[in-house]
Amino acid sequence: MKNRPEIAIETRKLAYHYPGEENISSPAVYGINLSVKRGEYVSLIGPNGSGKTTLLKLFNALLAPTDGEVLVEGISTTEEESQTEIRRNCGMIFQNPDNQLVATTVEEDIAFGLENLELPSPEIRKRVNRVAGELGLEHLLKHPPHLLSGGEKGRVAIAGILAMQPSCILMDEPTAMLDSKSRQDVLGAVRRLNREQGLAVVHVTHFPEEAARADRVVILHQGRLIEQGPPALVLNNLQLLHQLGLQGTASSELAALLRTDGFSIPQEILNCQELVQSLCSSELKN
Ligand SMILES: Nc1ncnc2c1ncn2[C@@H]1O[C@H](COP(=O)(O)OP(=O)(O)O)[C@@H](O)[C@H]1O
Ligand SMILES: [Mg+2]
Repeated sequence: MKNRPEIAIETRKLAYHYPGEENISSPAVYGINLSVKRGEYVSLIGPNGSGKTTLLKLFNALLAPTDGEVLVEGISTTEEESQTEIRRNCGMIFQNPDNQLVATTVEEDIAFGLENLELPSPEIRKRVNRVAGELGLEHLLKHPPHLLSGGEKGRVAIAGILAMQPSCILMDEPTAMLDSKSRQDVLGAVRRLNREQGLAVVHVTHFPEEAARADRVVILHQGRLIEQGPPALVLNNLQLLHQLGLQGTASSELAALLRTDGFSIPQEILNCQELVQSLCSSELKN
């Protein structure tokens, strides 16, 4: 593995406003100081229009900051000669995998970015086989991508990015169009690579249950970073979440409801297992 800095992505006073007079007074992203460590899994949540997609595009040099800066592996995204390297290093997965699948077989699709890098064919084959194995796609390599299930397509899109050996992946609501089984497939695969290979992940999601599985949750509101911390704290700050039109996990919401009914339940409930355990040992106060 390459010798890489501890911090995968760092922003300093990052701001961006889209071109046009009317956007100057309301920047899409403003004053963001954030660092994502190598191997860290960060969930990014926030209402529609809060700047999540814009922030991801700033991370991988699709947009250049209006103010402040973004460093990927210590390199500024405004250095033109580094932009191709940054996009390779910090791959982005969009909401709809269909938009990322371009070739006639899964194998060619995964190899697409590698062909563009003009790597030697044996190296391309080696990498395609490796990521196909990691994502459980070996048996589908000769299949046309458009005939796959949603979860399989999602995994092929991710395989194409991972074949480029990025140090970080950016996922913009990658599971919004998938059924629950496919969501688990795709996110399970990413989580494993995060744990086993130190891949940094920034995952925009509107599913609180997905955010709950991150190492850290970051909340954006009107382009500003307004809260961040461990999922058990951030996703139990229901007052703030509700103010923003967001929700905690089903279990944190239910735990709050039960507390108002007199059950003594700890503040940091995130999932059913924790809730059931605390209920089994809980008694009505009154
Ligand atoms: N291409 C664009 N041109 C002008 N304004 C845009 C463009 N894309 C997004 N915006 C504005 O920037 C803000 C943040 O948008 P976005 O990053 O897409 O938010 P999110 O992904 O959280 O929904 C919104 O106010 C949105 O209207
Ligand atoms: Mg968006």
